[in-house]
Amino acid sequence: MCGIVGYVGKRNAEEVIIDGLSKLEYRGYDSAGIAISQGKDTIAYAKKKGRLSMLEDYLKEEPILGHVGIGHTRWATHGEPSDSNSHPHLNEKETIAVVHNGIIENYMEIKEMLISEGYVFKSETDTEVIVHLIDKFYKGNLIEAVYSAIKKLRGAYALGVIAANHPNELVAVRKESPLIVGLGEDEFFIASDVPAILKYTRNVYYLENGEVVHIIDNTLTIYDEKKNKVNKELKVIDWDIEAASKGGYDHFMLKEIYDQPQAIKETLLRRLDKNRIICLDDIKMTKEQLEDITKVYIVACGTAYNAGLIGKYAIEKLAKVPVEVDIASEFRYSDPFMDEKTLLIVVSQSGETADTLAAMKLAKSRGARVLAITNVVGSSVSREAQDVFYTWAGPEIAVASTKAYTAQLVAFYMIALDFALKRSTITEDRYSELINQIEGLSSLVTQILEKKEDILNIVKDIKDTTSAFYLGRGVDYMTAQEAALKLKEISYIYTEAFAAGELKHGTIALVEEGTPIFCVVTQDDLVEKMISNIKEVKARGAFVIAIAKEGNTEIAKVADDTIYIPKTDNLLMPILSVVPTQLVAYYASLERGNDVDKPRNLAKSVTVE
Ligand code: F6R
Repeated sequence: MCGIVGYVGKRNAEEVIIDGLSKLEYRGYDSAGIAISQGKDTIAYAKKKGRLSMLEDYLKEEPILGHVGIGHTRWATHGEPSDSNSHPHLNEKETIAVVHNGIIENYMEIKEMLISEGYVFKSETDTEVIVHLIDKFYKGNLIEAVYSAIKKLRGAYALGVIAANHPNELVAVRKESPLIVGLGEDEFFIASDVPAILKYTRNVYYLENGEVVHIIDNTLTIYDEKKNKVNKELKVIDWDIEAASKGGYDHFMLKEIYDQPQAIKETLLRRLDKNRIICLDDIKMTKEQLEDITKVYIVACGTAYNAGLIGKYAIEKLAKVPVEVDIASEFRYSDPFMDEKTLLIVVSQSGETADTLAAMKLAKSRGARVLAITNVVGSSVSREAQDVFYTWAGPEIAVASTKAYTAQLVAFYMIALDFALKRSTITEDRYSELINQIEGLSSLVTQILEKKEDILNIVKDIKDTTSAFYLGRGVDYMTAQEAALKLKEISYIYTEAFAAGELKHGTIALVEEGTPIFCVVTQDDLVEKMISNIKEVKARGAFVIAIAKEGNTEIAKVADDTIYIPKTDNLLMPILSVVPTQLVAYYASLERGNDVDKPRNLAKSVTVE
């Protein structure tokens, strides 16, 4: 996790770095720090526990001037959030400063070695070994010292390094953790992600693993692991800073919930040809290769995993291939059977999730083909995969994933339809019907969003509960799992999802007078069974809120409250049924006075295993 920003140019580095860090707070926000070269053989720095605003307040009183610097916003991995554990970390003489995103796996052994050589550690972080290693190898040449230091490191790191003796220089390195370089006019930026520098430039280089960046004054050179110069293709970012800002909404999460109609449209329409056939440009698998696939795994974490559950349902139903879904951190250690007839589909909004990346590497090493569904162009996941499906949901900033999830569902439906057509497991009529229905989802989501006041009123009734449940059957149970994750992660209400028929096998013991139970009821053939389950929990005092298809009057007779959603094909209902649950989570968080976009203990991009 963590976000890093660096600057070399004529502007006030403090301003550029703080502004950049404010765009990266989604990567971590438990402490922040900045270091700026002072030109007279010194580095000035400030580090503060807490949100970036703590550092900003401090810098208002004690500004740090200068034109070359690095900054960091942290999500703790080693050592609690504190001033001393915040980055940048400096060597004892305070002549070298380092910011780091990632994890150094062998830091304990390096630390012991350095301590035996007389180095004194001031923090509990793994990062501190890096700055002492650079110090140890420093013989007057900063980039050489960095090369020597990184040879000793095992793990993931994106680094920014400055040194007092090199007041016009910045060295940066990327291995496994993301890092980009931005090019302005006579100025350079480094950052963990594009929004940090978009205010200043759209021209960026995406660094590959092992690349080392050397910036001195007006010169930028990029080297590979073996110190050969690398010529990279400059990419021009074609989305706007507006796309990465709140656009008038109170929170990023609300904006992103409202972005969904557009995200659904973008993800689908740009890939339909004039005959309304899906064209998946970045999926290069041939019809023959597809026909050869005997097994599909879908692997991901959190919300992306929940999208995978529905992906399985869609692929099995339409393309008739067996699919297994697994959590990335479990999949890696389960010794899964894979060969060249296996297709691994990974799903990752950020494209940087460490567990997901590790699962991909394992699958590739066993000969499986890897298809990535990701929202971030140029992300690690997209580069590791043979085939990519980009969800064009736009940047997702709120920690709680919403529009990325619905765009992932659209991606799965499209992949399932494409596979089905190529494998001849779907009729042309059914194919066209589903394409039309997917296209229609966008305006149906808008209709649901118009009911936000009703949902707020329901939430007001249940906001003080300590626990809640989501129930569903079939595909509604999968929606329930995503809904429960969303509610617990931002409202801190203990929420569990259950297959409605399973509740009576133990968990129903937890139902008390007034326990809120949300029941997702969108599958026509399961309505009667769900009504029985609703009666069971009502009989034990539950307060039932149903999420049901318009026209289902039977549900309203048994539930205490009903949120009606428009109808579409049963298979596609998860895209609609999840929307009210996102609003339930949003309003519950708001009503309970939480920080909606930055829930406690969490970070957006989980780049540690
Ligand atoms: C929950 C949430 C997380 C992520 C998970 C995977 O709202 O956002 O559960 O879905 O950390 O992240 P990505 O999709 O970036 O791999």
